[in-house]
Amino acid sequence: MAAAALRRAAVSVAVLAVALLSSFSSPASADSWLYEKFTTEGNVRADYSAQGQQVTSLILTRQSGGAFSSRQKYLYGEFSIQMKLIPGDSAGTVTSFYLSSGDGDGHDEIDMEFMGNRSGDPVVLNTNVWANGDGKKEHQFYLWFDPAADYHTYTIIWNDKNVIFKVDDLFIRSFKRYADLPYPGAKPMAVHATLWDGSYWATQQGKVKVDWAAAPYVVSYRGYTADACVPDGEGRPLRCPAGTDRWMNRQLDAAEWGTVAWAKKNYMHYNYCDDGWRFPQGFPAECSRN
Ligand SMILES: *[C@@H]1O[C@H](CO)[C@@H](O)[C@H](O)[C@H]1NC(C)=O
Repeated sequence: MAAAALRRAAVSVAVLAVALLSSFSSPASADSWLYEKFTTEGNVRADYSAQGQQVTSLILTRQSGGAFSSRQKYLYGEFSIQMKLIPGDSAGTVTSFYLSSGDGDGHDEIDMEFMGNRSGDPVVLNTNVWANGDGKKEHQFYLWFDPAADYHTYTIIWNDKNVIFKVDDLFIRSFKRYADLPYPGAKPMAVHATLWDGSYWATQQGKVKVDWAAAPYVVSYRGYTADACVPDGEGRPLRCPAGTDRWMNRQLDAAEWGTVAWAKKNYMHYNYCDDGWRFPQGFPAECSRN
């Protein structure tokens, strides 16, 4: 699966072109609310909904995608955003909400990314965890609703025990920490949202590409929250908000494991621990643990 580095390259190569070409690039004024918390690249629009809610739109044209990234880096926390995905034909597009420690070898990353599809074919949600540059840990799901019809809430809980993925109020995955296995626990990460052209791999393994005749493609984000610790200077000690127990010790209870099992049984599209072809030397160690 594509790394943050690829993703960012895809966005920024095109940024140069878009400054000259695109009429959809509407850099919001420097005093926009978006810029207090985020930097942006490419086609990004900061707006208000009719109800007065702050909405950020990412726009994909042939010339460029769009991205916003938190200025703050975090080490553990609960991160949440509402997203309304591309309606109709979204084949070849990749829409993401993820955490990353940055580019380069040995980076850490926690991903929620949506791989688009032709109209009527299902979008896939890819979840992945990278530690020290190793990220072959995908669980991918079809969704039990139309993610373009309305906003839905996507949440990442990241603490020193596990990484938990949640869609609306349903937990779909817990990636557990084992003392002897790599885990993203030492590198602060920034929060990113991106929309880009993933034609070469995203939809049906790259066989189905973005239809540029239907561009521009728009994804809307709102209601971003980061209830999270920030590193003080280089790494520890952390500065944490009051009441971090909400998420710092969060692990799934029996009922929540029940929703994980439900999602796995009914909606799972891909599980790296079932992909023997990919791991000829044997499955990653965590695949055979509880
Ligand atoms: C797109 O639709 C096809 C056909 O239903 C399906 O096999 C595939 O998993 C879907 N999603 C992606 C991202 O290719």
